[in-house]
Order: sequence, then C-alpha cells, then structure tokens
Amino acid sequence: MNSPIYLDYNATTPIDPRVTEAMLPFLREQFGNPSSDHVYGRRAKAAVENARGEVAALIGARPVEIVFTGCATEANNLALLGAAYALREGGRRGLLYSAVEHPSVAQPMRHLSETGWNGTEMPVEGDGRVDPACVAPAIDAQVALVSLMLANNEVGTIQPVRAVADLAHAAGALMHVDAAQAVGKIPVDVDALGCDLLSLAGHKFYAPKGVGALYVRAGTPLQPIQYGAGHEGGLRPGTENVPHIVALGEAARLAREELAAEAVHVRALRDDLHNRLATAIPDLRLNGHDHERLPGTLNVSFPKVAGWQLLAAAPNLAASTGSACHAGQHAVSGVLGAMGFDADRAAGAVRLSLGRFTTAREIEQAAAALIAAWRQIAA
Ligand SMILES: Cc1ncc(COP(=O)(O)O)c(C=O)c1O
Repeated sequence: MNSPIYLDYNATTPIDPRVTEAMLPFLREQFGNPSSDHVYGRRAKAAVENARGEVAALIGARPVEIVFTGCATEANNLALLGAAYALREGGRRGLLYSAVEHPSVAQPMRHLSETGWNGTEMPVEGDGRVDPACVAPAIDAQVALVSLMLANNEVGTIQPVRAVADLAHAAGALMHVDAAQAVGKIPVDVDALGCDLLSLAGHKFYAPKGVGALYVRAGTPLQPIQYGAGHEGGLRPGTENVPHIVALGEAARLAREELAAEAVHVRALRDDLHNRLATAIPDLRLNGHDHERLPGTLNVSFPKVAGWQLLAAAPNLAASTGSACHAGQHAVSGVLGAMGFDADRAAGAVRLSLGRFTTAREIEQAAAALIAAWRQIAA
C-alpha cells in the first residue's frame, strides 16, 4: 500500500537524510561521553559544541547562550518555571501569555498560577494575532514575565513579538518566545525579536524527535528546574544526547543555507493548494492571518462538514484537524475558539501543513482528494 500524502509538517517533519547521515557515526563508533577526558569524549564534546554553534548561528545567538534540551516542551518549562524561580524574591507576581499558546506554555503558566503567581491570558484578534495596543495596559510594573509564541502551530499566524517584547522590557519584565513552529521555517533572530528566552524543537525542522534547545540571553535570571552534574551550564543536567544534538546542529545548518529558497517553494505550493480548494468549494474560509503566516501552513474551514469527517473520507491524505500534540479526540480547537470562531467554523477546520519534501504533484492529488471527499459528504 502506498503511504498517504503527508501534509502534517507542523506535527512533525520527516528527518532529512542528510541529518540522518550526520548523526549515524554518533550512534555507532563515536559513542563517547562529552565529559570524558580522552579522545572518545573529546570527539563527542567537539561535535556537541559544533552543533551549539550551528543552532546559535541560525537564530543570531552566541553559542554560550544555547542550552540543549529534550524537546521544546522542556525548553518552555525550563524558561517559564526557571525564570519564575529566579524572580520569586522580587515583588512582581504577574505572568502574561497569549490565549493561543501551546499547552507546553499554557500549562506551566497555569501551574505557576496555582503557586502564588498571577497568570493572565492575552486575547487574540480574529486572525490569531495579539494586538500590542490592546495588551499594552496589562503589561505593567506587576508583570515579571511575558510569553508569546512566534508562530502558531494550528493556523501558522506570526505574532508581533518585537512590539510585545518592547512593552515587556519597558515594564521591566522578561520576554520568552516559543519559536518551536518558526525556527527553520522563517528567519528568526533573537536580537531582532528582542527576546530574553526562546524555545525551539528539532523535529519541527527535519531533525529527530527528542531534541530541542532554549536560548538564554546572557544575564537573564534563570534557575534550573532539575539538578545533577552541571551539564549545559547547570541548567539542564544529564549526559548529553550526542547523536540528536548533532542532528539538530546539522538541521540548523541546512535551514540556515536553504530556508529562504525553501520558503518560496513551500509558499507557492501552499497557495496553489488554497486556490484549488477555494475555487471548488464555495464559502471555504481561511483561518489565520492572510500573509503574516508560516509559509507552509494552510488552515481552512470547510462548510457543512466536520474536519475529522473530511479527513476520514480522504484516507490517502495525512493531515490534522486540531493541534497535533493533542489530537486524537474531536474536541473543538481552543486556538480557533480564542480567535472567536463559532462552533461550525471551528469544527470544519483542517490544518494542511507542507514542507521541504512536498511536491506539486502531491498538492494536485491532495486538493482533488479533499474536494472529492467534501462533495461526497456535503452534497
Ligand atoms: C508551538 C509549539 N510549541 C511547543 C511544542 C512542543 O514541542 P515538542 O514536541 O518538541 O515538545 C509544539 C509541538 O507541536 C508546538 O507546536
């Protein structure tokens, strides 16, 4: 049986074969522990530091500001809990985060809210964006930390992070950015964004699952959330996952070299898919910002059907209805709810996400399959 067409790159990406090649020696003969003071250890350490340099280069950071983690969820937890622990002696208790954050930001914030902090959600507009003018009054001298994702996993909307970071800093607060969906897909520069902390995930840009990183701007107050032998500047103890870190470094190098051209290619395919669907399906609605959006993300609501029904009727297509990380149940997406959509529009939503290996032929076939499925159910 042929594998279905994969249009779920926001859930996870395939591993680029060049990334696999780069990591393979570290699953075989290069097995050393970076802490060991012999040639095996030194080779492993050199590989980890090379990867650190590549990740730093991709986001305009210095290598010393990169902490490798097990995933973006862990990076988000370290950033939010670690900053809160470091700031707990100060008088500020406010935490702000947007209403469309991934659970790996929203849940640590809720946890902190149960332990003496005062968490508040920032509302979003109908396109999924926070309006800086609207949230400005909430970013006051009580706020210790603001967290805003760079790009949304469901609708791909890109947030005005710089404007919100400026407000946070003017109020004396720290700024964290969950860039798990953005890094490797759009240019990300920590200075241009003006953030203090930024999380990323390898498996969203062609490295394997199980590796991520947190950028920590030099001087940012941050405490570890686990304790051990002092790896990663004491912020993430535990023997380094060398093969995966090497993979992340190679994925970062490839992204730095290919991101610009790839974004043009992916955006053209995505817009072609959108045009095909919109031409055949009256009242198809685009969810998310028209152009401030990840190049590979197309979230659309189909009229008169539920998204899951539509995908079930198009089995040669692998896509998603809600956020990939908590899919599997037919609950209406919290992100679309926060964007103010009614139940029908939210239920009819399908997220089609494209990437490096998507072809024009696949887009043609995927559009035909979705149109046929919609006609079969809605007619
Ligand atoms: C925006 C966002 N943040 C964080 C994560 C969590 O990433 P990880 O799977 O590496 O923990 C995801 C995963 O879907 C995501 O989309």
